Amino acid sequence: MQNFKLLTAEKIAAAIAEIAPEAGFKKEDIVTMLEYPPDTNMGDLAFPCFRLSKTLRNAPPKIAAELAEKTADFKYGTSAAVGGYLNFKVSDEYLTTHVLTEIEEKGERYGSSDIGKGKNVVLDYSSPNICKPFHIGHLGTTVIGHSLKLLHEFVGYNCTGINYLGDWGTQFGKQIAAFRKWGDRDVIDQGGVDELVKLYVRYNNECEENPELKDEARAEFKKLEDGDEENLALWKWFVSVSLNEYQKTYKQLGIEFDSYKGESFYTDKMPAQVEKLRQSGLLKIDDGASIVDLSDYNMPPCLILKKDGSTLYPTRDIAAAVYRKNTYDFDKCIYVTSSAQSLHFAQWFKVVEMMGYDWFGGLVHVPYGTVSIDGAKLATRTGNVVLLKDLFRQSIEKVQEIMNEKNPDLENREDVAEAVGVGAIVFNYLYNSRIKDINFTLDQALSFEGNTGPYAQYTYARTCSILEKAKEAGIESVGGECTHESESALLKTLSRFGEKVENAIAEYEPSVITRYIIEVCTAFNRFYRDCPIVTADSEESKKFRTRLTSAANTVLGTALHLICMRTPNKI
Ligand code: ARG
Repeated sequence: MQNFKLLTAEKIAAAIAEIAPEAGFKKEDIVTMLEYPPDTNMGDLAFPCFRLSKTLRNAPPKIAAELAEKTADFKYGTSAAVGGYLNFKVSDEYLTTHVLTEIEEKGERYGSSDIGKGKNVVLDYSSPNICKPFHIGHLGTTVIGHSLKLLHEFVGYNCTGINYLGDWGTQFGKQIAAFRKWGDRDVIDQGGVDELVKLYVRYNNECEENPELKDEARAEFKKLEDGDEENLALWKWFVSVSLNEYQKTYKQLGIEFDSYKGESFYTDKMPAQVEKLRQSGLLKIDDGASIVDLSDYNMPPCLILKKDGSTLYPTRDIAAAVYRKNTYDFDKCIYVTSSAQSLHFAQWFKVVEMMGYDWFGGLVHVPYGTVSIDGAKLATRTGNVVLLKDLFRQSIEKVQEIMNEKNPDLENREDVAEAVGVGAIVFNYLYNSRIKDINFTLDQALSFEGNTGPYAQYTYARTCSILEKAKEAGIESVGGECTHESESALLKTLSRFGEKVENAIAEYEPSVITRYIIEVCTAFNRFYRDCPIVTADSEESKKFRTRLTSAANTVLGTALHLICMRTPNKI
């Protein structure tokens, strides 16, 4: 069964074909013109007829009136002309027989589709730099990236999530040299990345007084590049110490990657691309460096090789994209990074196009704005960056305090506190459209009121506890029909899930889902306030409202998982 929007569009298209067959409006055209009226008293969908007045050579109110007549026999709702608009109201019958049963039949697959079937999508996200702290700047790429992966999988794409670790570069020469001078294995095994950062910072400081150290670091990196066993072993150890630590954060977020092929993996794959660039005459020498001139596209040149012949960030990205195309045959390769890197991506995407790779159109950059935090004492020993693990820890602790007060007997306290504490930050972050710069306070993120993660998880838990009560009372989840406006309103909201999923994917915007979750919570809580469920006055209402609760539970659960949130049954 198609959704209400498509059914309405189909009906309108048929009506237009009757009054003006020559106009040639198809269902697909109509779908894009339909609007959701801000005031639902007006209807559930509105068709603005002024968009037709030119083609049909008639005044909008006249067209609306005529179409209302032709759509009077609509099976799934009613239509009415209001000024230049044709308004549609979905029938309760449709909501119950179609929407509710579809949710029941499809369960966790409700809202999904198979538009991505047979297509591959590669997602490059999180991608921290080894030996560097995992800080709040990484929150965006990590959760937007993972949510986009889940959304694409939900509609049938075959997805590969890649953590493109920043695991190569001259900085590892410094790290090795610093470790050789002052490092202690046990201290690093204990203290992790923090300790690696300390060594690195110290080395950099001393470089300023003693420039010879720079040469030493350079020599260490050269050895590493040439495959020196000891240096290679140290580097591998740095990678594993860092990754072990990042993994803890990934685990808290429920994130796993399909590949951790980082920058180092592409070292031997760059020469072929540099050669291709050279042969196609795209490389220019500029002050000793090799570049691709992009002035025709109003962009600064893309740097391919430094003066000394060493490769650069764009060089590696080009080689990695070619490798991924050959390995995964992607339809889309999505890169999620801060908007500070937008130019970098625009530049090398263009270079890939100039190289004649016909798949350049599948490269997608998804940028996001900056995050800052106040209200939390989160400065760390490593400077003024806020580490994600510290932010999560603080949030979890605060949730524990709140739980001690509100619900001291809760089972699995620690686990629930983690789900709510981490979820609060994720939800708060993903609530905003990604490109916006945001500043958030922990207290606001953790509030149980307002558009927050705890509010959404709490609403989900409420649906669980109602379903449990219904089960205890032996109430079956069958039959019935809408008898209250809040019931229909809830079903209407649930009916839009699939469309929201589509929008979120089209715009690479998980916030569409986050905001939709709030809409569902609001509709459910209004229904809960207006309509007694297990204590309803008729058996039929008890059963029907249990069905509605179960449907809300299904949709909320799926939607929350799509934005990397966990769903405890009790909070
Ligand atoms: N490691 C980079 C950073 O921390 C992000 C990598 C993004 N992905 C890419 N293919 N360039 O800034």
